[in-house]
Amino acid sequence: MRTLSGKRFLPWRHRAIRVDGIAYTYRPMKLSGKVAVVTGGARGIGRALCERFAAEGVRGLALADIDGNLAAQVAASVGGAGYRVDVGGEPAMRELVGRVRERFGEIDLFCSNAGIFAPGGIDTPGEDWERMFDVNFRAHLYAARAVLPPMLARGEGYLLQVVSAAGLLTQIGSAPYAVTKHAALALAEWIAVTHGDAGIKVSCVCPQGVRTRMLRGGGAATPGFLTEAALTPGEVAEAVIVGLENERFLILPHPEVADYFRRKADDYDRWIRGMRRLRRRVEEDA
Ligand SMILES: NC(=O)c1ccc[n+]([C@@H]2O[C@H](COP(=O)([O-])OP(=O)(O)OC[C@H]3O[C@@H](n4cnc5c(N)ncnc54)[C@H](O)[C@@H]3O)[C@@H](O)[C@H]2O)c1
Repeated sequence: MRTLSGKRFLPWRHRAIRVDGIAYTYRPMKLSGKVAVVTGGARGIGRALCERFAAEGVRGLALADIDGNLAAQVAASVGGAGYRVDVGGEPAMRELVGRVRERFGEIDLFCSNAGIFAPGGIDTPGEDWERMFDVNFRAHLYAARAVLPPMLARGEGYLLQVVSAAGLLTQIGSAPYAVTKHAALALAEWIAVTHGDAGIKVSCVCPQGVRTRMLRGGGAATPGFLTEAALTPGEVAEAVIVGLENERFLILPHPEVADYFRRKADDYDRWIRGMRRLRRRVEEDA
């Protein structure tokens, strides 16, 4: 029996799976005793993840948010450390990773959760496209550049990327959101394919509507079907815990997203026709 990461086999800590008829073992991700970083941890999904990670018994928890005061408050309530960071800048992300490693030691799990939404089509001003790319995509790249080298040296580490169903499907009413979330997913896939054999785990959380400031802030631009089926941030955090334990690349708090994604792959043209109908309905309801 070999291990997926090529590490020594510790039977009591491993689970067995079969891939293409070959038996492998892997060690399920347990958060207890680990060091985790969550960006955008002051509100919404990020905050729920921090609360849940604290309840799971992480040893070190760092919250990074552009709202430094709120990050400090939430950190105090969950027994973590709060940092004011704009994730859209590489030097700031490097500094964050350095400060967390100094304080808690090696980072086991880095969660890139901070994200922004704005409605708009292809004529969205260039600086707004750039800002969306910075926060929704480049922040994931900067985090990976900072944390992957030490993780690769240790032969283990977890990247948890909060993306969106928009990264698998699309976002009616926002071209920059759809495009930047696809980019984030593409990077996560690439890292999983390239560094999985070296012990790096990657999961992408792809929810539809979640009851947070982001969904409320979308106002009229938010399609009604997203608000109607919206989950609470706590429900998303629960799905993440299960997804991490099972080391699933895709974590789908709304399971129906798997069907939509399958239908898109099965017949792209039919899917686009269906999405056009949905867009017309959304515009009529607005
Ligand atoms: N709410 C939804 O319906 C929904 C659905 C799918 C995916 N998502 C994704 O989930 C993630 C979290 O969103 P949310 O709904 O909790 O939003 P939210 O607005 O409630 O919280 C986002 C947090 O990120 C922080 N943040 C924003 N820009 C930042 C920056 N540049 N640097 C550091 N921190 C920054 C904010 O201060 C806030 O605390 C985002 O990536 C979002 O795209 C949300």
